[in-house]
Amino acid sequence: MQEIERHVREVPDFPSPGISFKDITPLIEDGPAFHAAVDRAAAATAGIDYDRVLSAEARGFVFGTALAYRARKGLILARKPGKLPRETISASYDLEYGSNTLHVHADSIREGTRVLVVDDLLATGGTARAMCQLVENAGGVVAGVAFLVELTFLNGRERLAPYPVTSLLTYDA
Ligand code: PRP
Ligand code: MG
Repeated sequence: MQEIERHVREVPDFPSPGISFKDITPLIEDGPAFHAAVDRAAAATAGIDYDRVLSAEARGFVFGTALAYRARKGLILARKPGKLPRETISASYDLEYGSNTLHVHADSIREGTRVLVVDDLLATGGTARAMCQLVENAGGVVAGVAFLVELTFLNGRERLAPYPVTSLLTYDA
């Protein structure tokens, strides 16, 4: 796990003063570390019964795609407004900095579809919560929520209760 953690670079005061940005680009640029991180995430979610992965653009696609491929599951894309060509459903959320709306195609999640929500990082939980709302609004079931990085001091996990939350790396500042 240290091999994975040492490739996450902490950048002070980005994107605004006082925020310590957790930069995952060195991790995904390092082949063995990226591979190890995806394998770990796959192992951590192997016990979850799910049909499809749901991930949010942009950074969430990196791990969502890798996990879905590895688990031979379908991947649903949650996209920012104006990107998906067919009828969508949407949910809005507040970010650590700013706000946004995520859309999925209305027919991506059917009644009873079991969905593993995947993102690179859990901060306030707004993004993942919006994805969980999309699943529930479509009649699906949130089987679990998985992250590479969790910023525990922002208590995002509490906003995701009662869904089971998995994260590989935690930061308390
Ligand atoms: C980042 C990160 C998570 C989200 C976590 O995405 O990739 O999706 O913030 O924050 P939250 O728990 O407070 O919602 P961001 O929207 O900044 O952009 P990107 O993924 O498109 O780079
Ligand atoms: Mg994101």
